Amino acid sequence: MNIALIGSGGREHALSHKLYQSNINNNIYCIPGNAGTSKFATNIDIDFLDFKLLLKVLKILKISLVIVGPEEPLVNGIVDFLEKNKIKVFGPNKYASQLEGSKAFMKSLCKKYNIPTAKFKICHNSKDVINFLKTCSLPVVVKADGLAAGKGVTICKSLNHVRKTTNEIFLGKFKTSKKAVLEEFLQGEEASYFLIVDKNNFKFFGVAQDHKKVGENEKGLNTGGMGAYSPIKIFNTKIEKKIITKIVKPTLQALKKRGEYYRGFLYVGLMIKNGEPFLIEYNVRMGDPECQVILPRLKTDLLKIINFSLKNKLNKIKIEWKKKKCMTVVLCSKGYPKKYKKNLNLNNLSKIKNEKNRFIFHAGTKIIDGEIKSSGGRILNITILGNNFKVIRKKIHDCLKIINLKNSFYRKDIGWRVIK
Ligand code: AMP
Ligand code: GLY
Repeated sequence: MNIALIGSGGREHALSHKLYQSNINNNIYCIPGNAGTSKFATNIDIDFLDFKLLLKVLKILKISLVIVGPEEPLVNGIVDFLEKNKIKVFGPNKYASQLEGSKAFMKSLCKKYNIPTAKFKICHNSKDVINFLKTCSLPVVVKADGLAAGKGVTICKSLNHVRKTTNEIFLGKFKTSKKAVLEEFLQGEEASYFLIVDKNNFKFFGVAQDHKKVGENEKGLNTGGMGAYSPIKIFNTKIEKKIITKIVKPTLQALKKRGEYYRGFLYVGLMIKNGEPFLIEYNVRMGDPECQVILPRLKTDLLKIINFSLKNKLNKIKIEWKKKKCMTVVLCSKGYPKKYKKNLNLNNLSKIKNEKNRFIFHAGTKIIDGEIKSSGGRILNITILGNNFKVIRKKIHDCLKIINLKNSFYRKDIGWRVIK
């Protein structure tokens, strides 16, 4: 079967690599993909947000299944559009994608169904902001309602900062929405919990911890993610039970009550405090870089699992995981998440020998005149599967030393919670 995978990051390299290993015969097209995916898939460099153009290309390539990696096409309704045009697609529809696409939608749903989350107010103007501040002490978390490419959340320690940040949102800094969601600041430990979902069922799809801050010791600006590992220490069956009963089930039932349903990967972003999970955010996709540490641990055929979800038969498949541990460290271009250099030369990649439990997932890379160059802020995900996180991290650092990329950096403390 011909499969099209939408996206170009480390997540999509990891997904396409797993699809390539499937026992179900398939040809993979990555739209647009990166230098890494081009090794076993055909990259098609078009704008996937142009749905009409995308449809034309899918028809020419005789694609029988589309798998969507990133959130933007999902929130824009790619699933509804392709289904209307009789193309099979794996991912949530436009209605369900509001769980990520609108913080106001997600928080209102939490309030209605008593889902544990930070106290909040949806603000349309400065009067709303003042009213919320009367009920909540600093710091306060200010969020843009709509998609903001990872730049929509600000933790404000002063009233002035709250005023400035909310005013920018009201004035239209983010094109997707002029609403701001203000939240109480939650203390605790973050965890990314994943499910694969169909109309009637859901199954565990891994748990990981990301490192969102750009600097070591969790300092500096928020990023898309600087590194991750799986499994994680804070997670156990007692907490999982609470996540399912207090958060996941009420959410999926709420969609059903509205005549809707969820299909796809569901990312439950949590803050865990004293053994109690609080929902920070939903994402309607796999995490990046969490996906890169979850898929190497997956034993069951990914394409088979997706096919079961498409038939609403996830209850009929056993999803199995390796006992091993996995970590990834993200190599970034200097300056990221602010302005950074592009076209860094990744020549040294050829010096790295293939090794069974090492995966170099590409993120922002491109082949230009036969050479692999950087094209994004997050460039590579050096990923290793093993038995001991300390040993794994040492091997990752050794690999990064060989790559020895000028004008790049990476966090050396990924996994600090599990490595003493
Ligand atoms: P979000 O896009 O909602 O996941 O927010 C991005 C990051 O901001 C999260 O991963 C947390 O590190 C932090 N964050 C968001 N909301 C809160 C909150 N209510 N309390 C503490 N930290 C938060
Ligand atoms: N790693 C965070 C995210 O995928 O949103």
